Amino acid sequence: MNIAHLSDLHFGVHDPAAASTLVADVAATAPDLTVVTGDLTMRARPGEFQLARAFLDRLPAPVLVVTGNHDLPLDSPQRLFRPYDRYRSFISAELDPVVHVPGLTAVGLQSMPWWRWKDGLVRRSQLALVDYTFAAAPPGDLRLVALHHPPSGRTLLNGRKLLLTGADLLLAGHTHHPDVRPTPGPVVVTAGTSTSRRTRGTPSSWSRITVEQGMVTVVERHFTAGGWRTGRLITVPRADRRPASRPGAR
Ligand SMILES: [Fe+2]
Repeated sequence: MNIAHLSDLHFGVHDPAAASTLVADVAATAPDLTVVTGDLTMRARPGEFQLARAFLDRLPAPVLVVTGNHDLPLDSPQRLFRPYDRYRSFISAELDPVVHVPGLTAVGLQSMPWWRWKDGLVRRSQLALVDYTFAAAPPGDLRLVALHHPPSGRTLLNGRKLLLTGADLLLAGHTHHPDVRPTPGPVVVTAGTSTSRRTRGTPSSWSRITVEQGMVTVVERHFTAGGWRTGRLITVPRADRRPASRPGAR
């Protein structure tokens, strides 16, 4: 199983050289699924969403996309009354998408409520969606959850409950810093920013995730002056499948 994980595209402040060459670099790996964990735009402007839409259309399908904190408009009336309208019209009508490919069941979660500024939230109904989807998945399927906010730290309410859903992989972004973190539950993969100039000390990157024979291998592809190059390679064991029990969840 081969997954391409991109994040924090930030069209509007993107690096045109990185954006124009990224699709070919991803396509060369022939992913079974392409995941984009939010922040498609910088300020949720229509022109930025149009650029993001054109980019997504060129990525290898199927593509699973979720919102990031930058994908909600800043201006009050729009944010208050129609926070997801632009995302829905340009990117995806479904905010919590479920994607099935042979051997893989994936759930994307919208983790950015309009009333928070930057930090995220996973609702109880979304945890129930993950439980329901995984319970109905074929027994041998790899189980994946994708959202913008990483589950650790204080930036995502209910994030730690995602570690108990029986997911094998949990994909996030937001930090602009690539990371791989094994847990007793899922392997948590955080992708860097794939095309933004806001790189925070690490180069633009995307993560190629391969799962085979009980191991998860993450290869970070870094954008350099010479184009996309292989950066870090990290291999961690995939945790044993755990029952999807979450006593006391709320
Ligand atoms: Fe971002």
